[in-house]
Amino acid sequence: MSKDVIIACDFPTAEQTLAFLDRFTGEKPFVKIGMELFYAAGPDIVRQIKARGHRIFLDLKLHDIPNTVKKAMAVLSGLDVDICNLHAAGGLDMMRAALEGLTRPDGTRPLLIAVTQLTSIDQRRMEQELLIPRPLEDVVMQYAANARAAGLDGVVCSPLEAGRVHERCGADFLTVTPGIRFAEGASGDQQRVTTPARAREIGSDYIVVGRPITGAQDPAAAYRRCAADFTGR
Ligand code: C5P
Repeated sequence: MSKDVIIACDFPTAEQTLAFLDRFTGEKPFVKIGMELFYAAGPDIVRQIKARGHRIFLDLKLHDIPNTVKKAMAVLSGLDVDICNLHAAGGLDMMRAALEGLTRPDGTRPLLIAVTQLTSIDQRRMEQELLIPRPLEDVVMQYAANARAAGLDGVVCSPLEAGRVHERCGADFLTVTPGIRFAEGASGDQQRVTTPARAREIGSDYIVVGRPITGAQDPAAAYRRCAADFTGR
């Protein structure tokens, strides 16, 4: 699995998203479509971006009873995306059902990765709101191990956790990591950030980058800089 940059296309409309992608000439970045765009523009925006030749991470973070998630994943699998995800907090049976739903009759399927603990949840919230009295990092590692046990391909995690996830779950277990900033950039609402080069050193397989690229004056140049720093090529 080659290392790559995934651009988080957090735009409210299909028009804005396609206009943004028009600015990339000669390259077809891997893009992430999240809830905002999917709920606004529906499955058609996925088909349109796919038809332009981009790989797609559909970031809808499913979390429901196993049967419902299985059927929803079967629908998503028909969209021919490259990566789907769900919440590991849904449990082992939900994750196994999701994999079944995602697998097409010919045996192929998109990669499936799990969100461990959201990066917006800190130790205090986990203990006081969710009543989980354990160190946050232990919970992240346990959820990653559960995802591995269920047969998933990897997790979404902080780039700072990627090395430990690989130690616990194996080098081939994917770590897809948001929270990336250029050294001189603003971190915005992200709490734990690192640079593309540092993410490579720690072991991220894919970095998810939104505002440092979507908010840049020249997004294609920012993307190329990010890709060069991350892949070392
Ligand atoms: O703009 P920025 O680079 O912060 O975008 C990061 C992207 O990764 C956003 O789409 C955000 O929703 C997503 N994400 C995240 N932290 C997680 C899971 C997803 O920032 N734990």
